[in-house]
Amino acid sequence: MRVLITGAEGQLGHDLLDAFSGNVPAAGSPAYAARFLTTAHDVKGCDLADFSLTDAAATMDFVRDFRPEVIVHGAAYTAVDKAEAEPDVAMAVNRDGTANVVAAARAIGAKVLAVSTDYVFDGTASTPYLPSDVPNPLSVYGVTKLAGEQACGDESTIVRTSWVAGFHGNNIVKTILRLAQAGTPMTFVDDQFGCPTLSADLAVALVGLAKSCPGGIVHATNFGPTTWFSLARRVVASAGLDPDMVTPVRTIDRLPAPPAQRPMYSVLDGAALAATGVGPLPPWEEALDRLVHLLVAESSTSS
Ligand SMILES: NC(=O)c1ccc[n+]([C@@H]2O[C@H](COP(=O)([O-])OP(=O)(O)OC[C@H]3O[C@@H](n4cnc5c(N)ncnc54)[C@H](OP(=O)(O)O)[C@@H]3O)[C@@H](O)[C@H]2O)c1
Repeated sequence: MRVLITGAEGQLGHDLLDAFSGNVPAAGSPAYAARFLTTAHDVKGCDLADFSLTDAAATMDFVRDFRPEVIVHGAAYTAVDKAEAEPDVAMAVNRDGTANVVAAARAIGAKVLAVSTDYVFDGTASTPYLPSDVPNPLSVYGVTKLAGEQACGDESTIVRTSWVAGFHGNNIVKTILRLAQAGTPMTFVDDQFGCPTLSADLAVALVGLAKSCPGGIVHATNFGPTTWFSLARRVVASAGLDPDMVTPVRTIDRLPAPPAQRPMYSVLDGAALAATGVGPLPPWEEALDRLVHLLVAESSTSS
């Protein structure tokens, strides 16, 4: 396959480039990867340094030039709290940029796999969200990502994921590890539920999905729900440190509250992904351990 990755310099983008090149991305599950990484595809990445997806003509030119069969659209405005102060910028990237990608794909007959988010939901559910459940985002970021989904058209495949962390880029797992290694006590909310996702495992799932591009919406996360408090304790314990340095706090007691409201419950149901033959992804605990062990090994060789 000829595959274009947008957002190639991002956290997920790095792992997508590896996975579509036939290599297990950093910290990825070798067993899960073996199911889908059977060949190296003709893959190219693009990011802001090349052009902005908000520029329709530049997007069209780039896509016409490379002529991919599949575009994996991972680029996004992802600064969830900052988006509250600059909704127009977030909308331009997440809705209009996505529309430009879809228009360019249509022009050459390419299929689109567009990555979206659990933040399209309001978190009032008490059982895992199905792809068909009605979205109701609480944040500007969620509103703009939902607008991006709506710009996708029926022929695209929307892949919602949640709580993503990986080896490349900044993320909460790296922050927890840094604080834990410095012996800094931490508090994390124990009343927000979701599914952590290792970007490496998600990238492999996207390779699996790219083969069929089934259309519609699927949910792709590592397997199993947790809270931020439990996730943080797992990171610290996995690094061989004392998990008791992480203590719980309720969302309403966390002051100051972050600018963007998060869903209290955004567990995504993976049955639709499983029906495509690509799910389930490995359990989140195992995936997180792989990432932490790699990060610890890296920090000990670089110090
Ligand atoms: N991280 C999460 O927890 C999470 C959860 C659910 C869903 N997602 C979704 O997963 C996808 C990948 O997320 P990620 O964590 O890998 O994000 P990321 O690290 O922020 O990567 C996004 C990439 O898109 C680029 N980009 C931003 N605006 C652009 C534009 N106008 N034109 C071209 N490229 C642009 C960014 O460049 P700059 O860095 O220079 O801005 C960045 O390299 C996104 O669609 C995100 O919404 C993420």
